[in-house]
Amino acid sequence: MLDKIKQLQEEIEALSASGKDEVEELRIKYISKKGLVSQLFADFKTVPAEQKKAVGQAINVLKNKALDKINELKESFENADQGDGSTDLSRPGEPMRLGTRHPLAIVRNEIVEIFARLGFTVAEGPEIEDDWHVFSALNFPPEHPARDMQDTFFIEKDPDVLLRTHTSSVQARVMQKTQPPIRAIFPGRVFRNEAISARAHCIFHQIEGLYVDENVSFADLKQTLLYFSRELFGEKTEIRLRPSYFPFTEPSAEMDVSCSICGGKGCNVCKYTGWLEILGCGMIDPNVLDSCGIDSKKYTGFAFGMGIERITMLKYGIKDIRHFFENDVRFLRQFESAY
Ligand code: DAH
Repeated sequence: MLDKIKQLQEEIEALSASGKDEVEELRIKYISKKGLVSQLFADFKTVPAEQKKAVGQAINVLKNKALDKINELKESFENADQGDGSTDLSRPGEPMRLGTRHPLAIVRNEIVEIFARLGFTVAEGPEIEDDWHVFSALNFPPEHPARDMQDTFFIEKDPDVLLRTHTSSVQARVMQKTQPPIRAIFPGRVFRNEAISARAHCIFHQIEGLYVDENVSFADLKQTLLYFSRELFGEKTEIRLRPSYFPFTEPSAEMDVSCSICGGKGCNVCKYTGWLEILGCGMIDPNVLDSCGIDSKKYTGFAFGMGIERITMLKYGIKDIRHFFENDVRFLRQFESAY
């Protein structure tokens, strides 16, 4: 028995390994529950009584040596990466990929900057609104279809609490607390009870603009929008205003820009018309000024509102509005260099 112990001890002292996995194999072979050293403890029962003391001591010494040896081998591999020459510590670290700005944020910032150059400030209002700010203050008649359950998300059972369907609600809030001159834009998220498709979503973003002062005219509106369109889509851009209707403006118009893809010649993006509709606008209805506490005999103003998704889709040739909300990094990473 003592010979067997001595032999095992020599074997263990000579052990070497070339990697962590091999160390683990050795650990199992020698010191696990069924390992060779543990086996000796089992055999110990058969040792004659007079030898028990010596053999017992020898087995314990062997066990400790085996544990030390295995730990020593293990540590030699754990420390291998820490400056023993096998790792080049001067190598640059793994590059970490930075996030990218969302295309809607890129375009929103661009629009905000363009209007900032004209002296427009930025304001925000709540997404959960009341009927007055979204509809009544803006001259929507009580039976107007936009109030319909089809379009508007109401909160719980209270018809006075709803998700704003447009950022025009912020007009009312700003006019209530500020006297002219007011020159501001209001970017934000809006909600409509729409079936989701490639062209429509129940959540989207708008930017509303408002200018109220003495003697503000339709010519001011037109020139402001022309400047904006050329800054955003390029200096060759033309605009055209088509008569339209909104409850809160009179007269009202919809604005088209010449198609930036074909330069107005006609392509499948502009459906061969040469024009792309991008916003609604008009002179603020005197009823709206009065209901927000601004004297419509003294002041006039213009307002406009545009959808950020639509403009972003036109600018980047994005064909499906749902991409904006899916957070697919393959889509988002395409805008890495866009700001
Ligand atoms: N609020 C309108 C919409 O969501 C857009 C709009 C049209 C805003 C005309 C305006 C405006 O300020 O004057 O469709």
